[in-house]
Amino acid sequence: MIPEEKVREVAERLSIVEVVSEYLPLRRAGSNFLGLCPFHAEKTPSFNVNPAREIFHCFGCGAGGNAFSFVMKIEGLSFPEAVKLLARKSGVEIEERQLTPAERKSQDEHVQFLRINDLTTAYYRSVLLHSAEGEPARAYLGNRSVEPEISEAYRLGFAPDRRDGLVKHLRNNGADLECAVKLGIVRKSDSGWYDLFRNRLIFPIRDARGQVIAFAGRVLDASLPKYINSPESPLYHKSSVLFGLDMALPSVRTGNAIIIVEGYFDHLALYRAGVQNVVATCGTALTATHTGLIKRHAERVYTLFDSDNAGKKATIRSMELFLEQRIPAYVVALPSGDDPDSFLTQHSAEDFAALRDKARPAFEYFVHSLLAETPPDSVDSKVRIIDDIVPRFRKIADLVERDLYEKEICRLLGITVHAFRKRMGGGMLSDRDAASTSGKTSHTFDNVQDTLLALLMYYPEARSKIEQTGPETVFSGDHLEIARLLLSSGDDTVLSRLAEIIEKPEQKTLFSRIMVSDGYLADIEWLTVFDQCRRSHEKKQVSSIKDIASRLAVLDAGSEEYELLLKQADSLRTRKSKL
Ligand code: UTP
Ligand code: MN
Repeated sequence: MIPEEKVREVAERLSIVEVVSEYLPLRRAGSNFLGLCPFHAEKTPSFNVNPAREIFHCFGCGAGGNAFSFVMKIEGLSFPEAVKLLARKSGVEIEERQLTPAERKSQDEHVQFLRINDLTTAYYRSVLLHSAEGEPARAYLGNRSVEPEISEAYRLGFAPDRRDGLVKHLRNNGADLECAVKLGIVRKSDSGWYDLFRNRLIFPIRDARGQVIAFAGRVLDASLPKYINSPESPLYHKSSVLFGLDMALPSVRTGNAIIIVEGYFDHLALYRAGVQNVVATCGTALTATHTGLIKRHAERVYTLFDSDNAGKKATIRSMELFLEQRIPAYVVALPSGDDPDSFLTQHSAEDFAALRDKARPAFEYFVHSLLAETPPDSVDSKVRIIDDIVPRFRKIADLVERDLYEKEICRLLGITVHAFRKRMGGGMLSDRDAASTSGKTSHTFDNVQDTLLALLMYYPEARSKIEQTGPETVFSGDHLEIARLLLSSGDDTVLSRLAEIIEKPEQKTLFSRIMVSDGYLADIEWLTVFDQCRRSHEKKQVSSIKDIASRLAVLDAGSEEYELLLKQADSLRTRKSKL
């Protein structure tokens, strides 16, 4: 644990411009500095650094925060690691606070875990490379054309067909076998300790920083189960790990999309073919945690799953996650019967590139595969298709995209837009109408809220006025939450440090975007903006009451959604009457 005073000292000593300049050239532009964003590919600079406020923000990709966040993101570090790194640079000596016994124990254990995984990786690797027992695995890799440098890149290994080869190796190296049990790679029975993996080719699973956190073992023949994966452990949570992310990041950082595959060997086949921006799930379906991780690193994603039924299902399920998290997703469709590995053994990297270039937006792929499965040749089948489409269609966030898909779906099914919307139900319809009619006002309302939020930190008078009337009379949504945070933090809080407290990614972006530019504020009459905001806010309240009323009209009285909306309308009315 790093004491807060030390973090503060580091923050005070360093200049964000110096920190950032170590990674990319910056040039002055007005009171800010400008450069090419290191977090996404761009040709014209939209990466802004505000030296006075110690904040950066990229208007291209939305990355933003203070010097700590910058170093965390670019070096892939945790917060304490970033503080330590910057402490060294700024000459602040950090003496860590005495750990509590419990903290010390868990830290010691963590170090042990990592050491055990390193010992294990080295052991399996040496069996594969040097021992007579490794011969079948060497032959297997030879058959699958896995060259030594690829084997090295993955740090592949082989678990010999022995009861306790790993156990002995760990014991000889003084490792705590109880820790190895917690990692699941060693087990304990009445007759002693024994290895989890036997007679299996070993893929170490590494985290984004390259540390080995788990293992997967494949049989060398057709026996089952094909793979055994080490179980969940303090180091390994399979729903949040993407295999190969550490190998993919250098390529992804240069602006490439992330390609997701399902198998370790698929990953290997692509990597070998020179496609490095690839990750694989570890024997589990894609989760929201995975997609969140992807969103942090890439702007687009391609799914590349097997062409069988299971692969199709996985594709559609992943599409839902990507729609929910608003990550543009594309589907690379393989020829039937192929998986990425088999495709690449028969085709060139150029062939693969051509396939990838033909990738379709995930939703389009979904609709077309649905229609291929169930031809819309009767009323019955059309209804079934629509019912499959509707819940997913609802997840499309982009209004233009929605509009286009709606038309396309109706054309393909030979139904009217009216009929489709009717099937979508009332809630959906009014959502849409509200969005398209009030879209413009809410957009400008956001702009005014941006300005007012910036003014709040610029003019003390604006701050006290907003404190007086209450932030909820001028702000809403994310703006309101940030305003509350700003108002609740004391006068001595350094603005840039607030970037560390905000958790929601969209709020982080909003915060750095608003705070990174302040030069223009000096010429603004804050009271005018305040009044504007207040008026827009009132208007929005009224229109949302109208919106709710129209939704209520099409719902069953007494249904859960109905009751919920009713409550919302009530609370809006009381708030409005207080204005
Ligand atoms: P595949 O059977 O497609 O394996 O399973 P693969 O990696 O492509 O291997 P090869 O090319 O057949 O040798 C895809 C993924 O599903 C998980 C593994 O993560 C595997 O890479 N899986 C599969 C398991 O966890 N257990 C199994 O028994 C099978
Ligand atoms: Mn496969």
